[in-house]
Amino acid sequence: MKNIVRIKTRHPEKSLINRAAAIIHKGGLVVFPTETVYGLGANALCPGAVKKIFKMKGRPSDNPLIVHVARMEDIKIVARNISRQARVLMKAFWPGPLTLILPRKKILSDIVTAGLKTVAVRMPKHKIALALIKAANFPIAAPSANLSGKPSPTSARHVFDDFGEKIDMIIDGGNTVIGLESTVVDTTTANVVVLRAGAITTEMLQKVLGYKPKHARASGKKLKSPGMKYRHYAPKAPLKVCDLEGPPMVRFLRNEILKLQKNGLRVGVLGCSEHKKNYQRADYVIVCGSHNNLHDIARNIYSCLRAFDCKDVDIILAENFGKKGLGQAIMDRLRRAEKS
Ligand code: TXA
Ligand code: MG
Repeated sequence: MKNIVRIKTRHPEKSLINRAAAIIHKGGLVVFPTETVYGLGANALCPGAVKKIFKMKGRPSDNPLIVHVARMEDIKIVARNISRQARVLMKAFWPGPLTLILPRKKILSDIVTAGLKTVAVRMPKHKIALALIKAANFPIAAPSANLSGKPSPTSARHVFDDFGEKIDMIIDGGNTVIGLESTVVDTTTANVVVLRAGAITTEMLQKVLGYKPKHARASGKKLKSPGMKYRHYAPKAPLKVCDLEGPPMVRFLRNEILKLQKNGLRVGVLGCSEHKKNYQRADYVIVCGSHNNLHDIARNIYSCLRAFDCKDVDIILAENFGKKGLGQAIMDRLRRAEKS
């Protein structure tokens, strides 16, 4: 545990931030908390350092990284031709859980952008993240700090579970507030397209843009976001998400538990507190929050998926959290965690 540095979220300690920035300067890796999930950061302008990120995560080289900035003017270091729509979105949602795809500048190596002509940029809303980027004085490239394919980390413990002591420094800022990765939007097309759903919901984007942005398809030939083709966020046991909602969903899951058990399987259920009593026959039930509070469910969902890894279950049945607001992002992650 020697690399886990505890730091109070409200007051990022200067000496620790400077220590972390010095590691980044030397081309090392630092894990830091953001409002969404923990990031595995390196100097975005140093190809050697960025390569280490891919190696550490076991990440395919065709999946580009998000570049994190701390000041509006710093976007110009990595991006050009920033559209009016992109500016409107930055003004409305930065700092915050929104990543914008922008035309890239040549200063960035192809390793960061996986050879694309665009770059993903975000300004996180977290004091430690912002203090670190400012102290480093470079944009910081950072994917979620998990092994490729694992659920994203929402606590320093999750990071430690995946990497042990292999990372130069892990800054522990407690549990992340949002719990799902940022919304990713492509701003290089006439109309903004959502590439990854997140806490900045379709409804919130619509209010600012004046139209409802389309969502890119999660599969198919013309993938807009390389990350979309990979299976993600997966617990060890196979996961099945219920297509139904409300009382029919609860009835279906109750029957499904019995059916699977008759076939000799140990069944886990991931659901909301209101329905727990209906799943008493399951071998293990993990509650991720109340169905009246999607923020809680988003915040807890990854640690719940990880928690199943230490439970003796052969299959996990997950409830459906609907399509409205944050439900869309939660369901997107659950669907990707399903084995095909
Ligand atoms: O909340 C977050 O976004 C977290 C924190 C650490 O900031 N980061 C994160 O990074 O989730 P990562 O690498 O796990 O996800 C980045 C996503 C991937 O799906 C990737 O394919 C997509 O953004 N992406 C990156 N650059 C892109 C580009 N130029 N065009 C399209 N998609 C891009
Ligand atoms: Mg990730």
